[in-house]
Amino acid sequence: MSDHYEYPYPSTELESQYPFHSYDYQRIPEHDMQQRALSFFEEMNTRRSIRMFSSEPVPQQLIELAVRTASTAPSGAHKQPWTFVATQNRDIKKAIRDAAEEEERTNYLENRMNADWQHAIAPLGTDHHKEFLEIAPWIVVLFEQRYEIAEDESQLKNYYVKESVGIAAGLFIAALHQMGLSTLTHTPSPMKFLNHILERPTNERPFCLFPIGYPLDGVKVPDIRRKELNEIFYLL
Ligand SMILES: Cc1cc2nc3c(=O)[nH]c(=O)nc-3n(C[C@H](O)[C@H](O)[C@H](O)COP(=O)(O)O)c2cc1C
Repeated sequence: MSDHYEYPYPSTELESQYPFHSYDYQRIPEHDMQQRALSFFEEMNTRRSIRMFSSEPVPQQLIELAVRTASTAPSGAHKQPWTFVATQNRDIKKAIRDAAEEEERTNYLENRMNADWQHAIAPLGTDHHKEFLEIAPWIVVLFEQRYEIAEDESQLKNYYVKESVGIAAGLFIAALHQMGLSTLTHTPSPMKFLNHILERPTNERPFCLFPIGYPLDGVKVPDIRRKELNEIFYLL
């Protein structure tokens, strides 16, 4: 196969209409690629969700850098349909804990989670107690922007919102782990209460809530296994 393109991108016509610049790509020698790939995998493979955080403070700058990394995510039509709301305010964290526990009480104790679901999460041993929401130094809530509100207040469509925000969430989690912080991907659904507590507009819907901090000394995690490559990867 040759590298010849019959229809190069961008076309001359396209480039006359919209700005483009050369991609600043740095080629990495193949041996280094192997090394980097392995060490990134090994590092990410040590990531775990934790449910007991220390109250030790975490600098705001680290949270901001994780958000900046998350916001490098690709997004449908480059709409970047995400908002991150971060707080270390005690009153706000308490309000979030109270509201989350209220929803989770219904989920766990009043069977809003059906039997199959309860069975699936049984090994995790989670319940309606969410003390970590007050103890962790930071809570970051990721909102998806279902649509955009223009300056004239009209609604502008966003595309592939869930896919885009999911990718941003993944990068956020990876960035936190890489800098030595821990988090839990938490979804105390329904999460509408987060719009109210965090004063977000109606075009935004809570996607995930992340308590962030250092693990409490001696914290335990479920002894679960990750699927092997041959269970998730098919080569044709
Ligand atoms: C979309 C999503 C929602 C989740 N919601 C919760 C949750 O509400 N409560 C919780 O304790 N864990 C939650 N988790 C964490 C999972 O239980 C956890 O990622 C899984 O057990 C694998 O463990 P690990 O993250 O340590 O690899 C959620 C994870 C994802 C991706």
